[in-house]
Amino acid sequence: MYLTKLKLENFRNYENEEINLINGINLFLGLNAQGKTNIIEAIYTGAFGKSYRTLKDNELIMFGKDYLNITLEYEKNNLNNITTFYIDNLNRKQIKNNEVKIKKIADYVGEIPIVIFSPESLDVVKGSPSKRRNFIDMICCQLSKSYIIQHQEYMKCLKMKNSMLKNDYIDDNYIYVLHEKMSKYIKYIVDYRKEIIDKLNIYAKTIQKKITEDNEEINLIYNTDFLNMTEEEIKKYLDDHLYIDKLRKIAIKGIQRDDLEIYINEQDVSKFGSQGQKRTALLTLKLSNFELLKQEKNEIPILLLDDIMSELDSKRINFLLKYIENYQSIITTTEDTFVKNIDNIKISKVSNGRLEK
Ligand SMILES: Nc1ncnc2c1ncn2[C@@H]1O[C@H](COP(=O)(O)OP(=O)(O)OP(=O)(O)O)[C@@H](O)[C@H]1O
Ligand SMILES: [Mg+2]
Repeated sequence: MYLTKLKLENFRNYENEEINLINGINLFLGLNAQGKTNIIEAIYTGAFGKSYRTLKDNELIMFGKDYLNITLEYEKNNLNNITTFYIDNLNRKQIKNNEVKIKKIADYVGEIPIVIFSPESLDVVKGSPSKRRNFIDMICCQLSKSYIIQHQEYMKCLKMKNSMLKNDYIDDNYIYVLHEKMSKYIKYIVDYRKEIIDKLNIYAKTIQKKITEDNEEINLIYNTDFLNMTEEEIKKYLDDHLYIDKLRKIAIKGIQRDDLEIYINEQDVSKFGSQGQKRTALLTLKLSNFELLKQEKNEIPILLLDDIMSELDSKRINFLLKYIENYQSIITTTEDTFVKNIDNIKISKVSNGRLEK
């Protein structure tokens, strides 16, 4: 699958713009603050029903306007498809796929598979466990509707548990009932995360070796309290740790604490990796993510690469460009010096919310 057109109306600094996309490298070139990342964000928002830069949908609306529209046209199985995303100042939101209203976002996510790679992605390697969980969840959500639903339900229970833990009087039985529900969701989520991480690890090993010319071995390990536990064991584990939750007034145990450990030559890259090793590990993770989605969905995901050429050295840039030359990518950059001998490329100049012809 690939995107053929992006239309923006009142989206951030784009008042009205229609962008034709090729099934190859779409390069958006421009100075700072012109609207390059906004293009990436618009595509992401159209595919996930929400932005990755803000939790407040109405920040996406152009200053002074009261609604926005994003239209994504794409070809899939030789058919033309269209998704529209609308939001207004009163936070009324509507997503339509081929004219059909999307009632639950779980019914839609995964329709347009996406891999995003931006300077903030480095947090996956450098940052807190939550960034790595997000990375894994983003893959799981694009692959499984039940994963999205079970995860949402778990988070609802967790919220209820945490608000009870804030009370002066805590009803243990109420929490035990929640634990019973949560243990079902945990079982499902842990099994799914484990399966995805194991598959990702296989791709990562091959890619890491290629990038580093056999010098580095990567290993991804899923860190959770609940591996290979039955639902009953999970429930007991949660019940047994309730006393700690009560002391801390917040749920300490649960899949909201899971982590993905990334090892390079048997050392934890987040603690001991050099800057370059962290960037290489991230490149490996993102390309493995791409391969995994491609394999599992039997469709080619769209690569969104926001300003990452400045983060990579020439060897890694060449590796990446070679890797993606036959797929669709949307790349933003302030410098196009790395563009040499590439055939399937369309370069557009971005200037103050407009594309220069
Ligand atoms: N809701 C909005 N309405 C109007 N303009 C906005 C809105 N939100 C952001 N902008 C403007 O969009 C501009 C471009 O943002 P964007 O992040 O796309 O820049 P960029 O080209 O990626 O720049 P850089 O190279 O620095 O990353 C910013 O100057 C910002 O002020
Ligand atoms: Mg930017």
